[in-house]
Amino acid sequence: MDSTGSLPMTPESSVSVRVATREDLAVIAEIGSEAFSGLRPGEQGQAWVKATFASAPRMEYWVAEDSSGIVGYVLWTEKGGFRSNAVIELEQIAVRRERRGRGVGRQLVRTSLEGVEERLARRGSALKLIEVTTGSEQHAREFYRDVLGAEVVAEIPDYFRGTEYVMIARRPKRPERPPSP
Ligand SMILES: CC(C)(COP(=O)(O)OP(=O)(O)OC[C@H]1O[C@@H](n2cnc3c(N)ncnc32)[C@H](O)[C@@H]1OP(=O)(O)O)[C@@H](O)C(=O)NCCC(=O)NCCS
Repeated sequence: MDSTGSLPMTPESSVSVRVATREDLAVIAEIGSEAFSGLRPGEQGQAWVKATFASAPRMEYWVAEDSSGIVGYVLWTEKGGFRSNAVIELEQIAVRRERRGRGVGRQLVRTSLEGVEERLARRGSALKLIEVTTGSEQHAREFYRDVLGAEVVAEIPDYFRGTEYVMIARRPKRPERPPSP
């Protein structure tokens, strides 16, 4: 135990990360409702998660799991059309409370983002920019800065429950597709 009486954090044994299926939606809603008041009450949260899932591939859930089941999820949203220079948003991420601080979130973002970039490449697009917005919780800003390389570019007062910070991570630009003849 450390001086605060907490058990030292041990590195997370590796979780596997995959695209979510319809069967995962109830657990996603449950983990989401633990983290976000907007997904409560439960039935309302489940309806939102189902509606979101239905808009794939514009919106795509990925989950992290181990032998105990799903321990976290991330939601990626593509913005402004299926562009050749794609703009995506990390719209939501949550890790089960008891599993936080051990690298699950990092692995979830890293692996799912690779998957999203592969999907973009298959249709001839490349990732231009990642947007993420977050409330006043310092830890989430640190997380996005560290894991995505995102920086705060704007503050929006009185958004959900207070100030929301818009963060952006840019990727190297590539030429636009030539206009069709
Ligand atoms: C944000 C969240 C998804 C991060 O997942 P996690 O598994 O706890 O994060 P990781 O252990 O992978 O941390 C990766 C890095 O993020 C940063 N980070 C994570 N938690 C942090 C904290 N409490 N304080 C400061 N930095 C933190 C660190 O840089 C960390 O790297 P390090 O462990 O090498 O120091 C998780 O805390 C969560 O579910 N929170 C509740 C929901 C939420 O706030 N979602 C985001 C809202 S916009």
